[in-house]
Amino acid sequence: MSTPKSYRFSQPIVGMIWAQTNTGVIGADGGMPWQLPEDMAHFKRVTEGHPVVMGRRTWESFPDKFRPLPNRTNIVVTRQEGWGATPEASGAVVLDSLEEALVEAQFSPGGNEVWVIGGGQVYAQAQEHCNVAVVTVINTDVAGDTQAPGLGPDWAFRGATPAEGWLRAKNGTEYRITLWAKGETEFEAE
Ligand SMILES: NC(=O)c1ccc[n+]([C@@H]2O[C@H](COP(=O)([O-])OP(=O)(O)OC[C@H]3O[C@@H](n4cnc5c(N)ncnc54)[C@H](OP(=O)(O)O)[C@@H]3O)[C@@H](O)[C@H]2O)c1
Repeated sequence: MSTPKSYRFSQPIVGMIWAQTNTGVIGADGGMPWQLPEDMAHFKRVTEGHPVVMGRRTWESFPDKFRPLPNRTNIVVTRQEGWGATPEASGAVVLDSLEEALVEAQFSPGGNEVWVIGGGQVYAQAQEHCNVAVVTVINTDVAGDTQAPGLGPDWAFRGATPAEGWLRAKNGTEYRITLWAKGETEFEAE
């Protein structure tokens, strides 16, 4: 079974996208404790052409040469006054509130879909504003220091690729891609 290329939503969405272990670990020591190029490709397919919103620590977790993420308005939140004027922030739209960042994103190119891309602190605050979550589950129990948000009862499981079992990456890592939504969100996996 192949990975879905993307999703087509029939209304504007504010989504979260992350990859986690079986126990909800999303990060360790400022990075991700796995190598999964197939998931990076999936992340690119879903988010390209749309604004992405992230915390300052996630931005700093990207090597210089990979930021800003191309073909996406990169919006970074920080509470540090003046950080936006530092070389570290080059290429980012910097704001000091998540709510403002989500509004700015909706008025950015491709803002009919906004993607919140982490990390742990930002997902935890963003989930109340979001109606879609695209979650890659990696079949590992590796330890870490950053957790995925617990999705509350207003979120419903809306499907997975593959429907049963796991995809197998070239390096042997098993993973599956799940989709969660709130309310009446309609979509097709392409
Ligand atoms: N597995 C995945 O899919 C995935 C995705 C993304 C990230 N990650 C991992 O997650 C980890 C980073 O997550 P994290 O929780 O440590 O940090 P984070 O959420 O990326 O960033 C936290 C920072 O964002 C700023 N911030 C947070 N809420 C804010 C608000 N309401 N208003 C203004 N600024 C706000 C603060 O920056 P200042 O301190 O500058 O004020 C805060 O320290 C890394 O290990 C990364 O690799 C994993």
